[in-house]
Amino acid sequence: MNNKIFETDNFFNLKNKIVFPPMTRCLCTKKGFPTKKLQDYYINRAKNNFGLIIIESAAINNNDALGYKNGLQFHNLQHVKKWSKFLKKLKAYNCKVIIQLYHAGRLTVKELTNKNVVSPSSIKPESQVSFWRRSNRKKVIHFQTKSEFKEPTKLKIKEIRRLEQSFINSIKLAIQAGFDGVELHGAHGYLLHSFLDGRINKRLDIYNYKNLLFLKNIITKSKKHMSNKIFSIRLSLHRVDNSFVKYESRFFDIKKIIKKLDRFGINLFHSSEIKAGNKLFGTKKSLTQIIRENTKKPIIACGSISNQNQINQLTKQGANLFAFGRSAFANKNFVRTLKFKLEFKNNFSYNRWKIYS
Ligand SMILES: Cc1cc2nc3c(=O)[nH]c(=O)nc-3n(C[C@H](O)[C@H](O)[C@H](O)COP(=O)(O)O)c2cc1C
Repeated sequence: MNNKIFETDNFFNLKNKIVFPPMTRCLCTKKGFPTKKLQDYYINRAKNNFGLIIIESAAINNNDALGYKNGLQFHNLQHVKKWSKFLKKLKAYNCKVIIQLYHAGRLTVKELTNKNVVSPSSIKPESQVSFWRRSNRKKVIHFQTKSEFKEPTKLKIKEIRRLEQSFINSIKLAIQAGFDGVELHGAHGYLLHSFLDGRINKRLDIYNYKNLLFLKNIITKSKKHMSNKIFSIRLSLHRVDNSFVKYESRFFDIKKIIKKLDRFGINLFHSSEIKAGNKLFGTKKSLTQIIRENTKKPIIACGSISNQNQINQLTKQGANLFAFGRSAFANKNFVRTLKFKLEFKNNFSYNRWKIYS
């Protein structure tokens, strides 16, 4: 079978439409540099033949943005130096590489940030049983420190402006380092996502959830660094603290959000779903479908993609690129395996406990 996902993509000239999505490994030094082990892991994914690799979420500062112990950071010239060298090695395998930039928002704990935990409003994360945190069935805790997420401090306007500058700075530095672009982490309940949702952002000032001013400033003020580069945003309905968020347009108007992001300058939408292609809670459509109805820009579909039918369904819904997370965690030869399995119409299931370096 001649599967189109193995063909070149027309938007960014990727060698195929197979994407390695961002997955935090917590294998960095205290200052946020990738260790040898993490570098080997990415080299192996580059050898594996992915068209696009999205480097795991990197914090835009070394205080309130930090969500993980030993997590990646990207905000200074030392980071640029380290990554410029490493990117040359990765790109020798003819893949494109972008980096996901994030601020943890209220989904972090004081032990990690040494400071206040901040968010658009002072609202504590929920404590729903999480798809991603099954080991703890009573409350949502930080998986490394085991401490509970607390009520965050509401950001002052001048602090929001400081964070906008930090995002813009990291974007500029990422391009300087030689990345093919960046992805803003606007999903899973982290800071950028929090600003978009009226259930988390209760502000009545210019940074209210309807205005999208935080993202607007970050995107439009970074555009000058981004010519011909991939400028992606990852979106989801679900969050780390609640996998089953209901879609309610009065709080989270995805259609309007997508149209605006498109206008601001985003040229790639990354749809993060629990099961890609399934309808969202509270709608008859999947996130991928809703994104497609509101932009002509390319879309990456991601979330438990495991067979050809699902790939066909997502293609019909408007997806252009396909990301495989845990399956590619578990299989060093994932792309080759995928080709083989799809030829024989098999599912390609994953073992979520197995990670190859
Ligand atoms: C260990 C782990 C770390 C992850 N880290 C990130 C991350 O840094 N940024 C992000 O947007 N998503 C992150 N994710 C979510 C994945 O990118 C992906 O959306 C999820 O695994 C679903 O896709 P899959 O079913 O193909 O694995 C992570 C997932 C796992 C399992």
